[in-house]
Amino acid sequence: MAENTEHLALWGGRFTSGPSPELARLSKSTQFDWRLADDDIAGSRAHARALGRAGLLTDDELSRMEAALDELQRRVDSGAFAPIEDDEDEATALERGLLEIAGDELGGKLRAGRSRNDQIACLIRMWLRRHARVIAGELIGLVNALIAQSEKAGHTVMPGRTHMQHAQPVLLAHQLMAHAWPLMRDIKRLIDWDKRINASPYGSGALAGNTLGLDPEAVAHELGFSKVTDNSIDGTAARDLVAEFAFIAAMTGVDISRLSEEIIIWNTQEFAFVKLDDAYSTGSSIMPQKKNPDIAELARGKSGRLIGDLTGLLATLKGLPTAYARDLQEDKEAVFDQVDTLEVLLPAFTGMVRTMHFDADRLEAEAPTGFALATDIAEWLVKNGVPFRHAHELSGACVKIAEGRGQELWDLTDADFADVFADFLPADKAPKVREVLSSRGSVNSRNGKGGTAFGRVREQIVDAKAEVEELKLFASSTSDGPAYKAPETL
Ligand code: ARG
Repeated sequence: MAENTEHLALWGGRFTSGPSPELARLSKSTQFDWRLADDDIAGSRAHARALGRAGLLTDDELSRMEAALDELQRRVDSGAFAPIEDDEDEATALERGLLEIAGDELGGKLRAGRSRNDQIACLIRMWLRRHARVIAGELIGLVNALIAQSEKAGHTVMPGRTHMQHAQPVLLAHQLMAHAWPLMRDIKRLIDWDKRINASPYGSGALAGNTLGLDPEAVAHELGFSKVTDNSIDGTAARDLVAEFAFIAAMTGVDISRLSEEIIIWNTQEFAFVKLDDAYSTGSSIMPQKKNPDIAELARGKSGRLIGDLTGLLATLKGLPTAYARDLQEDKEAVFDQVDTLEVLLPAFTGMVRTMHFDADRLEAEAPTGFALATDIAEWLVKNGVPFRHAHELSGACVKIAEGRGQELWDLTDADFADVFADFLPADKAPKVREVLSSRGSVNSRNGKGGTAFGRVREQIVDAKAEVEELKLFASSTSDGPAYKAPETL
């Protein structure tokens, strides 16, 4: 056991024995936190320069330290240096690596004025800010695929549903764009979150700040943050920002899951609204005829784990006293899992959406069925002076007749309409209701802002494209470059 003490030198001093093997195994986090190594080394470079400016490293020491960190980065990149069994976490491993290169004397100076508590709090911020941009980029790809499908859909009308029942005809483009807007909001949430997480905890030390006269502002700027956290306890302990990211990732999963569910239903034999491209669907090992929407199903399934990552993290945070506690180590796997999940899911999902093929004839044929034009009858009556309360009843009476005969509304005779509307309209006027008994007429009459009329849908596509151009600026900004400034309108 004692031999472990040497490796765990970050805190070995006051202990007479090393940790038990059971503790070492429990404590270990390199299996997941090694992916923070590059950010850790970037932090070490900035910290070394802060030590230099504070007079705690001479110019010569600083340049040797920087050279050693460069060499460490090279070894990490090539895989020549990696954590070993006894390294507790990525910081322990990298300190060992630095001591190997720079020697104990020089290497041992870097730890002054920082703690793994402020380090790790800073690293998770750096890592998440970078991946938020990757995810935003992937989401933009998906939004663009939805926009392209909407443009291709043109005037195609489909059944719009509420409670999954035929409600009113809508443009296919309108239905597809209804999935684009929430995804754009997810990107905007990331942009907004980035403003809050854009503060460096470096210099907070273990919890109370540091005594060495270091300049945390300079470190913050070197690491791409606009400012330093305002309170060192909060800086080391706050994980609300990690949880907020986890919410956005979970919400993104839910938004994709809802679209998935729609695609899965549309893709059934009974609906037959959409066909998936062979390259984005799978077969069955036993049933040769099968073509399955696995990408949509995996997206729906993975949204469950994205939610689980969020709730697990919130449960970890609940009840923690405010300053660093080891529980906080649990923040990382939750968001790493979310990022890995989204980064592998989104490209496949976008490919499926981009290549799916709608059966326009079938959508058009189904659009007006199931008495989906009943509201149009009621509104036509209103336009002809009938109070809506009665109009609703009269239209309902038409539905009742048609339903009783196993017909659709347009199958009613002129005499039927004249009969039903007799108390309100002259007999020769009543059959004119046929003007609105088409799904195209129905759709185009819904021409208020945000409605499903063709012109309004064109308008929303133009607006969405303009917004995407803005969102792209965030996705292509670097988290360690000048801060992305979102316009007020976003
Ligand atoms: N590995 C820890 C984490 O991820 C950081 C180390 C802080 N450990 C400590 N004993 N203060 O949160």
